Amino acid sequence: MKNPFYNRDIITIKEFNRSELEYLFSVADKIEKLDYERKKELAKGRILGLLFFEPSTRTRLSFEAAMLSIGGNVLGFAHPSMSSVEKGENLADTVKTVESYVDAIVLRHPMEGANRFAAEIASKPVINAGSGTEEHPTQAMLDLYTIMKVKGRINGLNIAIVGDLKYGRTVYSLIYALSNYSPRIFLVSPPQLKVRSEALFNISDKIKFSEHEDLKEIIKNLDVIYVTRIQRERFPDPHEYERVKGSYVIDVDLLKSGKEDCMVMHPLPRVGEIKPEVDKMPNAKYFLQIYYGKVIRGALLASIFNPDPYDLL
Ligand code: CP
Repeated sequence: MKNPFYNRDIITIKEFNRSELEYLFSVADKIEKLDYERKKELAKGRILGLLFFEPSTRTRLSFEAAMLSIGGNVLGFAHPSMSSVEKGENLADTVKTVESYVDAIVLRHPMEGANRFAAEIASKPVINAGSGTEEHPTQAMLDLYTIMKVKGRINGLNIAIVGDLKYGRTVYSLIYALSNYSPRIFLVSPPQLKVRSEALFNISDKIKFSEHEDLKEIIKNLDVIYVTRIQRERFPDPHEYERVKGSYVIDVDLLKSGKEDCMVMHPLPRVGEIKPEVDKMPNAKYFLQIYYGKVIRGALLASIFNPDPYDLL
């Protein structure tokens, strides 16, 4: 298959089909096994710009670690206060400036549409590292890769997505990515945080899904529980956040009432949705997700920079 990622913007996961995602997974598998010297050839002489207008630990540092591991370098800022945005510079000028220094840009921004806007301005590839409540496509890539690694398949799995389905951008990219396969999706949230209708419109003719409020009622069926944080910072009214915070807490007792091999995922950070006691259970796969985040982002960068990464693998 021709490399579908070469020199391409990564704005929405909706632009990638199953065979394209599996091309990426296959590159990731090969890179993981590559020796140090050959890995360093994949982005030799390349520079990645990291523009983070919102806080991040995993996405920013895993892109940085991935780029360094394949022989490239990074520059950028972790907060707009570290740039001339603080003096009033706009996003367009920031992107135009940074693209003169780099081979690709990773952008996280609080505004929906900011990444699409940046991609229209920039002549270099732009990778969406989170755009408001809209999407986080590379998170979905690593989420699917983790499920594949643990379960060996996605088709036929019962997957619950739990928590803040209204504001959690990882939820949208995950739902769209899963709709390339045939799992059954259980959408579990308080009534105030149900998934936005745009997502249901996009997937309703592709995938089986149902909406729920009570996780305990369905836990026995589940192969995967994908937990999300209630996104306090996105609530227009702090009182509304107070009403729904702590709606779901995954603990050992709850997991023991489900399937023995039910895997627990979370894009992280967590703020109480998964008790630390769960970390020791074999079901806990959220730290594995972090590891695969670096692997999949390395594969993505290698595929964006090289017309045929297989020539180097
Ligand atoms: N999963 C995720 O996006 O984490 P960060 O906000 O730490 O990047």
